Amino acid sequence: MTQLPHVFVTRRIPEIGLRLLRAACVVDLWDDDMPPSAQDLRAHASDCDGLLTLLTDRIDGDLLDACPRVRVVSNLAVGYDNIDVAAATARGVIVGNTPGVLAETTADLAFALLLAAARRLPESQAYVRAGQWQTWGPLLLLGAEVHHATLGIVGLGSIGRALARRARGFQMRVLYSGPTRQPDAEAELGVEYAALPDLLRAADFVSLHAPLTPVTRGMINTETLRQMRPSAILINTARGPLVVTEDLVNALRAGIIAGAALDVTDPEPLPADHPLVGLPNCIVVPHIASASGPTRDRMAEIAARNLMAGLRGEPLLHAVNPAAIGIGRQVEPRDYV
Ligand code: DGY
Repeated sequence: MTQLPHVFVTRRIPEIGLRLLRAACVVDLWDDDMPPSAQDLRAHASDCDGLLTLLTDRIDGDLLDACPRVRVVSNLAVGYDNIDVAAATARGVIVGNTPGVLAETTADLAFALLLAAARRLPESQAYVRAGQWQTWGPLLLLGAEVHHATLGIVGLGSIGRALARRARGFQMRVLYSGPTRQPDAEAELGVEYAALPDLLRAADFVSLHAPLTPVTRGMINTETLRQMRPSAILINTARGPLVVTEDLVNALRAGIIAGAALDVTDPEPLPADHPLVGLPNCIVVPHIASASGPTRDRMAEIAARNLMAGLRGEPLLHAVNPAAIGIGRQVEPRDYV
């Protein structure tokens, strides 16, 4: 009988995922609220056949070289910018992710942030808590209108499309930008394609849904912020480094745009004394867009199944580098027991 494969799970994940893995693998679980350090990650992963990682774990060529048995890295996220996919592919290591199951939940949060920023909900709650609510006021805490406003979606993937469906319910005009036009989405959702500068100029709300790549990193900067309307609100539930943080701070302070609502930041986490946290026209929440129980269960199940499929040499439910499949790492089987 062959020994079970060894896997390192870099944080406690929903039980459904751990149960699946424990039935088929020897599981080393990093059971701590904080991620393993690079050193701990390397130490725990070095003798493993597979890794179940989070977006807080940096997986690069050096790490993979230090873990010669690892054949599959299964990321519990749709994004995988924490992984050097080219390095993994070059080593025949398959990388998995969890697309699809978190789109609706993430779009819920993006729309919640949009509404909260437009209608100044955190400021309003702080006002009440501070005992400032003395009377109804005709000019009190006036916000922006959402219904019939224009929403610009940067990156019309499954999350962007889910957001467009929500916006339709508010009779919003929806523009999208991205590398390709999507005639099916235009027909189905009534969205209109616009080049990024045109979208930025026209939108009352700009919501980011692009992956973090060398091309998209820093795409929202002083120049692009200046293309936005002074009344516009920026929403980011994608990845923090899409936005140049310092440029956003300056734009919010100078009134170049009216507000921002951020689920993701750069750096992440954002220190409590960071200017973005203190600005009244900026909402910051701690990367919770996919944080509902059922969604995290679905993500954990897919991540576990991806890992187990990769270990068996079978196709993953979702592989981001199918090119690595078939290369495979030449690993001696574990000892027989
Ligand atoms: C992802 O999946 O990439 C999110 O950022 C976390 O759900």
